[in-house]
Amino acid sequence: MSQQLTLANSTATRSLGIILGQQLPVGTVLLLQGNLGSGKTTLVQGLGVGLGIADAIDSPTFTLVNEYLQGRLPLYHLDLYRLDSVEVAALHPEQFWEATEVEAGVVAIEWADRLPYRPPDYLWLQFAEPIQTGRQLAVTAVGNDHQTIWQRLVPHLSLFQPEQLPANSASGSKID
Ligand SMILES: Nc1ncnc2c1ncn2[C@@H]1O[C@H](COP(=O)(O)OP(=O)(O)OP(=O)(O)O)[C@@H](O)[C@H]1O
Ligand SMILES: [Mg+2]
Repeated sequence: MSQQLTLANSTATRSLGIILGQQLPVGTVLLLQGNLGSGKTTLVQGLGVGLGIADAIDSPTFTLVNEYLQGRLPLYHLDLYRLDSVEVAALHPEQFWEATEVEAGVVAIEWADRLPYRPPDYLWLQFAEPIQTGRQLAVTAVGNDHQTIWQRLVPHLSLFQPEQLPANSASGSKID
């Protein structure tokens, strides 16, 4: 199950993240993929706001994993950009989605194509090549649980569905 969303500007990317943060249930795994500057961290920053996390979210450059425990659910944010698959495996990313030793929460992984293995269930968020005026995001739900999660989210996402945007919409022309 896959769907295309239109994110007219960075505010839209952040708003999508906020809605996800407000709606997603415990155990959700978001695998984010897309080139440099495509909007992955912006979406996770919104996710943090939607979960009620007061701390500003940055890419976990030196720590590899950032854990935010003060929101509605724990958020585990990983950025695999600088890692090869051996280093990623050493990080044991499954500890966050299996949640045997950490409290179950929401997992968001940037550069998810670096994962040598994936969870059985996840949302794959694929950003298209950045263009000045906005971003296209393809969302694919993999596994029964995440297909259900996605079906419940869709009614909240009408703002981002291309057919809802008027042609040559002014909101789509903002460059940032
Ligand atoms: N829908 C959008 N339209 C236009 N610009 C956007 C959109 N979403 C995010 N941006 C902007 O794109 C830039 C890069 O965003 P961001 O840092 O989130 O990308 P990233 O995918 O995390 O990049 P990296 O792989 O380098 O970590 C930021 O300036 C952000 O404001
Ligand atoms: Mg980033």
